[in-house]
Amino acid sequence: MKNFEYYNPVHIVFGKGQMAQLKKLIPAKSKLLLVYGGGSIKENGIYEEVTGHLKNFQVIEFEGVSSNPQYDHLMKGVELARQAQINFILAVGGGSVIDGAKFISAAINHSDDPWNILSKRQKIESVIPFGCVLTLPATGSEMNSFSVISKGADKLGFGGDPRLYPKFSILDPTLTYSLPDRQLANGIVDAYVHVLEQYLTKDINAPIQDRYAEAILKTLREQAPLVMSSPDNYDARANLMWSATQALNGLIGVGVIHDWATHMIGHELTALYGIDHARTLAVVLPSLLRVQKEHKLEKLVQYGIRVLEIDPELDVEDIADKAIVKTEEFFNSLNVPTKLSEYQVKVENIADIVSSLKSHIAANLGEDGNIDDKKVTQILTLSVKS
Ligand code: NZQ
Ligand code: ZN
Repeated sequence: MKNFEYYNPVHIVFGKGQMAQLKKLIPAKSKLLLVYGGGSIKENGIYEEVTGHLKNFQVIEFEGVSSNPQYDHLMKGVELARQAQINFILAVGGGSVIDGAKFISAAINHSDDPWNILSKRQKIESVIPFGCVLTLPATGSEMNSFSVISKGADKLGFGGDPRLYPKFSILDPTLTYSLPDRQLANGIVDAYVHVLEQYLTKDINAPIQDRYAEAILKTLREQAPLVMSSPDNYDARANLMWSATQALNGLIGVGVIHDWATHMIGHELTALYGIDHARTLAVVLPSLLRVQKEHKLEKLVQYGIRVLEIDPELDVEDIADKAIVKTEEFFNSLNVPTKLSEYQVKVENIADIVSSLKSHIAANLGEDGNIDDKKVTQILTLSVKS
């Protein structure tokens, strides 16, 4: 196992009715910026519930944070927060709203152009503390210190600074009852791929991390049909919510080797073609696993046997092939396509995608940095053609 430090200070408040704790969790006398998305919270009653608990605070609202939150819009929130001199931020929504709140939190007191936090990886100077009410289990943003922000064809991440952890996150599974199937499926796929990015690399004798990762994968596979078939199955929603948070709160990733190439390529597909984040992962991952099969063979076989229950007596190459097919089948069972040909992306577009990726990340991708431009082209071609 590699050396590591693990620090995660997020106060998780989980379960039905936990919104009542909001007024205790927010520091007394706070002047709040309430950040939310495109209006779903006004249709499903979450807005009323949240604001009902904010009566003792001064609240300034900032709405309209879109999926793949946009820098230009977020900067309006930054201006609003500066003028009103807010001292706490409350994000109510999915990963996009939470990521947007993290950016606003870091940008308010940034003395240089805040875009440089993303484009030049400038250090954060100070943050405004923030808390979350999660409405969509998917990204893990509610319990990590990362954020992904878009500006034109750039979709860039920042984070890793301990000040960017939420002070608290309320995880009430009943808030997910109103989610459309598409967003639920996206959430399951995103969480599943988060685990694989940290697990499907190399065996370095870290059985605790491996088995935690396998537990999350198995739970997601088991709960997915229950979640998709019954909107008000509380236990299934609770298990999905906690699995998605665990998938990217750092714990399964300590001391092990990570990949993240699927995410890096996926961000380009969202930025250039507007494909939902999770859906980009579903089209990239199977092709990436085929191209990287020999490199990842040992872990693919472990995943195949332990998680997918493939016959261990089979030849290792067969186990790995079957593991990739079963992963595709799982995504397809959620109505999430696994081929880029399902979207409006053609072979002749691949060079542009690769050059955009290169403009954002100069280094090769993958756990051993062996995914160069040629391999990215190969991965995308396989996904378009097959
Ligand atoms: O805009 P609103 O009205 O809130 O509607 C949203 C949005 O249309 C809707 N929604 C959310 N909760 C709902 C609901 N609709 C009905 N009922 C509810 N309870 O769902 C739509 C999608 O929301 P969004 O927040 O965009 O989805 P998600 O949570 O999947 O977040 C995706 C973003 O997170 C980034 C992605 O790149 C993308 O920008 N990620 C962030 C990560 C992180 N911070 O660690 C890691 C991830 O890999 C990912 O990159
Ligand atoms: Zn993701």
